[in-house]
Amino acid sequence: MNATLASLKASAADCRACDLWSRATRAVFGEGPAPAAMMLIGEQPGDEEDRSGRPFVGPAGRVLDRALTEAGIERADIYVTNVVKHFKWKPQGKRRIHDRPNRTEVAACHPWLASELEIVRPQVLVLLGATAAHALLGQAFSVSRERGRDLLGTSLAPHVIATIHPSAILRVPADADREVALGHLRSDLSSASSLLQ
Ligand code: URA
Repeated sequence: MNATLASLKASAADCRACDLWSRATRAVFGEGPAPAAMMLIGEQPGDEEDRSGRPFVGPAGRVLDRALTEAGIERADIYVTNVVKHFKWKPQGKRRIHDRPNRTEVAACHPWLASELEIVRPQVLVLLGATAAHALLGQAFSVSRERGRDLLGTSLAPHVIATIHPSAILRVPADADREVALGHLRSDLSSASSLLQ
């Protein structure tokens, strides 16, 4: 991590721009090289990410890692982050269950993401799921309709691809359907990678 990302990460650790910090263990900042040819943006850290302080290391991270490997992408070569840096959760028995961040929380966290984009300067930006796509492309964007397409002409990066979120794959009940969803993620990541060649 270069000095600028390191200092942003340190500042984000004390962020009080919304209330999510008060129930999270820590802010989970992005991770990876800068600049990086490819940057992935998810929604928010989950339970394991909140405990470890690293993005996409829990169940969704394992799905992402599998899809990256199958798409021939080295995770160490890409920058991975989230729209929201604190874990939003609700209790269910002893467990902390993911609770989707609202628009106010997404907006409060946006300056961190904007700074990461400025420093990482990806050639290809991959938006994982609706929260990331809506935060960066607007509420009207439909991931299911537009996934896998190269969205040219945004000011975010030369190429932008939206795809299914790894957590959504985990929620698919039938094994066969889950494999199909994983195939979509893998092929969208392959498309993103081929834009770099
Ligand atoms: N889901 C996300 O969007 N990000 C993570 O870091 C983990 C799960």
